[in-house]
Amino acid sequence: MDTIATVLSGIRATGRLHFGNYIGAVRHFVTHQQQGNRCMYFIADLHTLTTLRNPEELRGNVIEIVKDYLAAGLNPEGSIIYAQSSVPEISELSLLLSMVQPLGELERIPTFKDLVRKNPDNVTLGLVTYPVLMAADILGPQATLVPVGEDQIPNLELARNMARRFNERFGQTFALPEMLEEMVKVPGLDGEKMGKSEADNAIDINSSIEIIRKRYLERGITDPQRLRASDPGDPYNRCRSIYPLHEIITPGEANGREIAKACIAAHIGCVECKKRLVDNIAVILEPFQEHRAALANQNDYAREVLHEGGKRARRIIKETVERVRDKMGIVMY
Ligand code: TRP
Ligand code: SF4
Repeated sequence: MDTIATVLSGIRATGRLHFGNYIGAVRHFVTHQQQGNRCMYFIADLHTLTTLRNPEELRGNVIEIVKDYLAAGLNPEGSIIYAQSSVPEISELSLLLSMVQPLGELERIPTFKDLVRKNPDNVTLGLVTYPVLMAADILGPQATLVPVGEDQIPNLELARNMARRFNERFGQTFALPEMLEEMVKVPGLDGEKMGKSEADNAIDINSSIEIIRKRYLERGITDPQRLRASDPGDPYNRCRSIYPLHEIITPGEANGREIAKACIAAHIGCVECKKRLVDNIAVILEPFQEHRAALANQNDYAREVLHEGGKRARRIIKETVERVRDKMGIVMY
């Protein structure tokens, strides 16, 4: 019995990584790698095409994200790091799966409905089949653990259903992926999910700590009803940016609630509270930034990592796709 997990996750290359991606996702990727699982982390460049139509930007983002991954502690020995498009078998699997996937289910997915509502003129076929391609990403390597954010749960449910249905109809083919809901939603400066809105609410993982401090002091929202430091604050309900981030990154805070208690008792002011938060951001970001700076000019190395990762991923995924072809009656003549 194979007891090590195959951990798989993908990220779209719509822009540069921000602190929310780092804390919510990439940090966990590194932990899974350190635990000795088979880790597959890819850049979903094909999925990116549903919204990003600038080829230069896409190419650039992919390379920058790989460098961010490496600086964060992923390494090509411990993890298979690849671009989705380097494994054409993923696209083939997506097509094969689309033959047994009812359209209605895809149209009912909340993320799809959201995107249609927001941008009714941009409903491409690729957007409708987005979750099918995502299922191919997951089922191709027989992933068993998929760390995802809350917004991806419906897509993962669909992948599980597709696996179950396919296995029933054609015999055991796909491992059933478990979702790992560990990717927390990291609040941005305005209290909304970091990087989500059009609002400029994200913290760039490569900006200097001074700039981050300035941004928090000037723009980080606190309890709006707390006008003076002598007023008791409400960290849990009314402080939507600073306190929730303390809970995620400040050591001991999630259990001890020292800052929350100090806020409620009016023993700490918001400026001091923000400064402590930024000190904790610095502890996390400083080693990352040092490593990242050393990689700044290493684009060839990043491409090499993707090339090797693509070859390794391809060997794994090809096996599944050959089996799927065979079960469905498709012969490579
Ligand atoms: N749809 C995911 C997102 O937007 C990215 C993604 C693509 C993904 N394929 C995946 C995540 C497979 C996990 C597994 O965040
Ligand atoms: Fe939020 Fe901290 Fe101010 Fe309390 S002291 S309202 S937790 S920023």
